[in-house]
Amino acid sequence: MPEKLSPPNPPLSDGVISLRPFRADDALDITAACQDPAVQRWIPVIPAPYAEADARRFILMALQSWRDGTGYEFAIADAASDRYIGSVGLHVGPNSRRHAIGYMVASEARGRGVATRAVRLITRWAFESLAIERLALWTLPGNVASQAVAEKAGFRYEGLVRNWDSDRDNRPVDVVMFSMTPADLADDLAATGAPPEPGRPSAPSGRTSAAPPIARFPRELRAPGTRAAPFVEIAAVSDLEPGSMRRVTRADLDLLVAWTDDGIVVSDDRCPHMSAPLSIGELEGCVVACPLHEGRFDLRSGETVRMPTTGGLDADGRYHSPWSPSGMELKPEPPTKKLAARRLTRVNRPRYYPARIREGHLEAQLPILPE
Ligand code: FES
Repeated sequence: MPEKLSPPNPPLSDGVISLRPFRADDALDITAACQDPAVQRWIPVIPAPYAEADARRFILMALQSWRDGTGYEFAIADAASDRYIGSVGLHVGPNSRRHAIGYMVASEARGRGVATRAVRLITRWAFESLAIERLALWTLPGNVASQAVAEKAGFRYEGLVRNWDSDRDNRPVDVVMFSMTPADLADDLAATGAPPEPGRPSAPSGRTSAAPPIARFPRELRAPGTRAAPFVEIAAVSDLEPGSMRRVTRADLDLLVAWTDDGIVVSDDRCPHMSAPLSIGELEGCVVACPLHEGRFDLRSGETVRMPTTGGLDADGRYHSPWSPSGMELKPEPPTKKLAARRLTRVNRPRYYPARIREGHLEAQLPILPE
């Protein structure tokens, strides 16, 4: 028996779009969307020509598949007006490695990231709701817009799969295959922030929302050992202030919690130069100034904005000379071990711990800590 899920209530939403069950009054909007030649070209399963009766049949089929647990089709609706602007569905396969995602967006709603938002919402919900080991998404080879959506939503390109699907006349066609695994999802969450809690729109960049935003960070800078790590409570949101930094210690980890202009980041409370505590430095926008040696680091990108006065190697191994804050020329020093150590000290990029807000608390994924 397939597992049966109920439509999330309140509907999944990121504040811009929501995913809700289909309603009978979506039929006219669906009909208009499916008459678009681009939709008919790239989605051969859609009848052509497309009539209102097709839309009504589709709505009945979508609602029935929820009841049977054979598929989970959502209307993509504009979050403000609740009007239909597209469709996204989880097509249930015979086992946990054979589920797939399909989507389309009405022509007038394209060009503003609607498909990427919808795919992100449904994939996160699907992984949370079902024991999924792989989620597939495929497009026809020429549909580059849809392939870009797949990659932006965190799916990984796999390649061309020959004769995988069929065209309108049931002839085999090649597809470009993408997939997502739980590890890919964790990477996407790290890079884009955890999803809002069901029904709660994501926080805007203003500071009036109850839940502060979590800043994105480059996915390659995720701290090692966090991919399958549990979320651990770090601080009460009420104790945090926009523009502030603080140290939080968990076991032998000293963490920097910084509320930057882009949102909250959790990193190590160690300067990437010589380990001074960044939490007692200065935060300006997204840039933290270290209390030692004048180093400045962009917490949004992980890049060094200003090398320390001591000079040394940057993250890519390039050497930078020492400099003087007063602009005065430095006298050459005789070679010593101390000088050699400074020359070889590398300013690495910081590492980040994926974070989320749950029930008024900031939580972060920390590697399993020693007792
Ligand atoms: S320890 Fe931070 S700049 Fe030197």
